[in-house]
Amino acid sequence: MSLQKGDATVKRVIELRGIRKSFGKHIVLNGVDFFASEGDFRVIVGENGSGKTTLLKIMIGLLLPDEGQVKVLGIDVKKHWKKLSSRTGVVLANERSLYWKLSAWENLDIFGGIYGVPRKVRREKAKELLERVGLWEHKDKPVENFSTGMRKRLLLCKALIHNPKILFIDEILNGLDPAAVREMVDYLSELNSSGLTIVMISHVLHVLPDNAQVALLRNGKIEIQARYRDIKGEKNDVYKVFERLIKGSDGDENDLAGDQGD
Ligand SMILES: Nc1ncnc2c1ncn2[C@@H]1O[C@H](COP(=O)(O)OP(=O)(O)O)[C@@H](O)[C@H]1O
Ligand SMILES: [Mg+2]
Repeated sequence: MSLQKGDATVKRVIELRGIRKSFGKHIVLNGVDFFASEGDFRVIVGENGSGKTTLLKIMIGLLLPDEGQVKVLGIDVKKHWKKLSSRTGVVLANERSLYWKLSAWENLDIFGGIYGVPRKVRREKAKELLERVGLWEHKDKPVENFSTGMRKRLLLCKALIHNPKILFIDEILNGLDPAAVREMVDYLSELNSSGLTIVMISHVLHVLPDNAQVALLRNGKIEIQARYRDIKGEKNDVYKVFERLIKGSDGDENDLAGDQGD
């Protein structure tokens, strides 16, 4: 990997090697290698159906790959995925994983309890999270009355209630208005700055933090990886930039990160 941090002491927290996954005859992942170090902000992009969600589900142990090695926080996820859940936070797309009839506060209290967070600690954490995402004044309302944006913010709180080491997010920015996207990314960036490793699938790429590293999943493989600060600009159309990089390269990743800025 040419785009790892220079500091050799940075800990690798995600190691995926040679991941293959097919559904019937349909080959979705055809030899994916993916690595992340502690404190990374990784973003996976790719067309619809390119296998992003499949890859994320394999990382968190929700799906088994047909082949390949999956190691997260040193844990062999294929064998011991249960050990992972208390140490990772997950937001899946379109996931109705909140208790609809219960309030935001009750949801966080229940999920904090499931993750084994002591009552006093999880209540303090729930308050801190709800205040941070602007839901504190709505804490006693049932989730079924929440807007999409409010639900997404609550899903994020739910994923953070147990202080995970890595946060996995599938498409949380979809359907948010521009101000809400900005707020969400600012919060994720803040969390990342304080040490949380983030792996996020996203189509919304114009507001990522500069340190984000973007990986393009295409034809069943990670085709390119580049730092966001090196590929933004170009009217924010990261795909066009990526397309050009693919055409113009000989497959040497070292060339890809350079000189694409201003
Ligand atoms: N459980 C499944 N059974 C059959 N096909 C699936 C299943 N999950 C995903 N697929 C197929 O695998 C491909 C990749 O899906 P997905 O990982 O959801 O893509 P993305 O998240 O990039 O849009 C799609 O063609 C999808 O239809
Ligand atoms: Mg998806």
